[in-house]
Amino acid sequence: MTELSKIAVLTSGGDAPGMNAAIRAIVIAATHEQIEVIGFLHGYNGLIENEEMPLSLKEVNSIIHKGGTILKSARCANMYSENGLKQAANTLLKQRVDALIVIGGDGSFAGLISLQKYYSGLVMGIPGTIDNDLYGTDFTIGFTTAINTAITAVDKIRDTANAFDRVFVIELMGRRSGHITFNVGVACGAEQVISFENFNPKDQETKLKHLAQEIKVAQKDKHQSYLIVIAENIWPGGATALVDQLKEFQSIDATACILGHIQRGGSPVAKDRILATKMGVIAVQLLIEGKSNVMLGEKNNIICEVSLSQAIKHLKKVSPTLIKAQETILAFTAQQLE
Ligand code: F6P
Repeated sequence: MTELSKIAVLTSGGDAPGMNAAIRAIVIAATHEQIEVIGFLHGYNGLIENEEMPLSLKEVNSIIHKGGTILKSARCANMYSENGLKQAANTLLKQRVDALIVIGGDGSFAGLISLQKYYSGLVMGIPGTIDNDLYGTDFTIGFTTAINTAITAVDKIRDTANAFDRVFVIELMGRRSGHITFNVGVACGAEQVISFENFNPKDQETKLKHLAQEIKVAQKDKHQSYLIVIAENIWPGGATALVDQLKEFQSIDATACILGHIQRGGSPVAKDRILATKMGVIAVQLLIEGKSNVMLGEKNNIICEVSLSQAIKHLKKVSPTLIKAQETILAFTAQQLE
């Protein structure tokens, strides 16, 4: 058991629905153990600048259902410099912080690993990112809300696409992974899914011809809508470039729609609120037990720990079963149309 008198928490990187629920759980669990909690604002910037706020039961009252983060978030280039790391550690020392909890994604945890060069207190990561790209957890906080938001949006695009028998290219977030794209594509019955897991940008020309062929077959006798969902950063130039190329090289009219940051906002769904609450409470318990340098995860409904360095290695792949399901359905529907 470690004697803890003060815990600090910050949210960093892309905000994710459920971050507030995690902050709330940390504060309630720590207060129960007579541990003081403070928050640093604007991600690691607040740590470097010593921009803090007290976190008591009052501040976290009625925030479980709110999107965004009451602590604000940011990316922080200074955490890549020795000077920035030293300043951040200095603040923690000055504030007499015994343990730091960071709610964020891979970049945030890389910062937390580096910070330990100068900070000897306990550190813990809680996975908060819509991308779901952290190893050691089945789900990250925010992912489920983000895919539900995207599904609602894509369903609406389907309505108007149906009305006009239109082709849409819809770009989804995920940075360098296709968890959002594949899940949304399958859930919306998209005719095509283009993501890191099933497409190499070197094959752009072949893919374009193949897409054109498929769209023409699908629209030949039976007019119908056609939705292509693509992961951001996979097609050179993104959704707009793909739409332009379909027109220029294949005479196909398509409309681009970039869903963008709508995927990050909104009230967290039940699953994210519950996951965030479990993780917040357990983070405090584990810190009291002296655990450090780990990220919390949940696997098969059991909260577990993974080292921060493992968590950010991008080892979590999109489920092969999901990819297979999408390919099987696509192949079958294509056959029916021929
Ligand atoms: O990591 C979350 C995320 O929303 C990614 O999906 C996306 O690539 C990135 O953040 C966008 O970052 P920003 O809001 O800084 O443009």
